[in-house]
Amino acid sequence: MSTRSLEHILNVEDARLAAKSRLPHGLFEYVDRGAEDETSIISNRAQLDAIRLSPLALVDVTERSVSANILGRTRPLPFAIAPTAVAGLVWFDGEIELAKAAASAGIPFCVSTQSITAIERIAAASDAELWFQLYVWRNRQRMFALVDRAWAAGAQTLVLTVDNPVTPNREYNRRNGFGIPLRVSARAGLDVLLHPRWAFTVMLRALITSGIPTYAHYPPEFRTRLGRISVSDELAFATDVTWDDVHELRRRWPGKLVLKGIFRPDDALRARSCGVDAIVVSNHGGRNLDSAPGPVEVLPAIADAVSDSIEVLADSGVRRGADIARLMSLGATGVLVGRATLYGLACGGVHGARRVIDILGHELITTMGFIGATSLEQLKGRSFLHQRLASPVTAADPHETGEIDHG
Ligand SMILES: Cc1cc2nc3c(=O)[nH]c(=O)nc-3n(C[C@H](O)[C@H](O)[C@H](O)COP(=O)(O)O)c2cc1C
Repeated sequence: MSTRSLEHILNVEDARLAAKSRLPHGLFEYVDRGAEDETSIISNRAQLDAIRLSPLALVDVTERSVSANILGRTRPLPFAIAPTAVAGLVWFDGEIELAKAAASAGIPFCVSTQSITAIERIAAASDAELWFQLYVWRNRQRMFALVDRAWAAGAQTLVLTVDNPVTPNREYNRRNGFGIPLRVSARAGLDVLLHPRWAFTVMLRALITSGIPTYAHYPPEFRTRLGRISVSDELAFATDVTWDDVHELRRRWPGKLVLKGIFRPDDALRARSCGVDAIVVSNHGGRNLDSAPGPVEVLPAIADAVSDSIEVLADSGVRRGADIARLMSLGATGVLVGRATLYGLACGGVHGARRVIDILGHELITTMGFIGATSLEQLKGRSFLHQRLASPVTAADPHETGEIDHG
């Protein structure tokens, strides 16, 4: 895959449409869609679009920097690649390709518990700074063994996802028969046949090199049908995850600990009191609780509560560099990007993912030029937010002056 063949990808939506034509329908929908009626995907976007940035006129913007300090290190860009299960189905060795793209851009890559490629292989194949995302398994001893593996493989940041206490309702996956372990069905077979390029370059290669793709971090028993029956209960996502688990992970994990999926200032304060280093304000890209608020709605209050002492990252809905500026103007210290880089990955492996990273970076620096910001530090304090959003109740607010039109 040459970088020239990606020249027609000018924005994330271009990459999304290319991904749609390349991936089997069931896989594309797994990546692209959300939960239930997908209202939270729609509102994530609508709320980001509603954030208007007020340009400061007549600023010399010849030199602009989009570098940011995230988790103790200065990065050339203020975002990381979010953990996404089954990236390894989007492209052959997809997680390795994402890690290489992240490494080449100098940003972190977060490996999912449900990765198709094991963190040890990703670490050996790329120079990326790896974070490890953790889902809590019912059998905590098996989970702690996985955490130890992640540390031994070189991950120094553990991202505990806390926004999925129960299984999300994604009906299209059931209709499409999509799930891991992959199931053989006439419908899935036809879907694959209709996408021969994916069938040959991803599935066939995977089958030849390592067999049917499955979750690489699950114990080996999980890979046999009988073994799966015996351990699947132990590896099911725990429904009894509490702050005790956070305390225990904090006690065991020597590196940075991040909680992903925080919506409320009181939980953010509690995270801080547990010794957590950062939180991610996220509704999982609209994939879990469809009635959850978007990051735009809750970020300012959370940032006000804790950003003097812990980092506040945010994700869900980022499709343009301007969205990163919007979230950072609302108080995020950095951003995660999920689907955008997956779409890029589907278009061209490492080059496609890198192209999307570059597009987002370029759009961000353009946005900064327009608003008269020469560094991301200047977005703090919300001075670039249009007044109505920066401060909902102002002296001129009609609620205060009694000028409400009840018509
Ligand atoms: C296909 C896919 C798989 C995902 N898998 C995980 C996962 O394994 N663990 C996790 O914490 N979040 C997972 N997420 C959520 C992302 O980490 C991130 O929160 C979300 O994608 C951000 O929204 P965006 O896709 O609009 O950028 C997944 C998202 C997608 C799209």
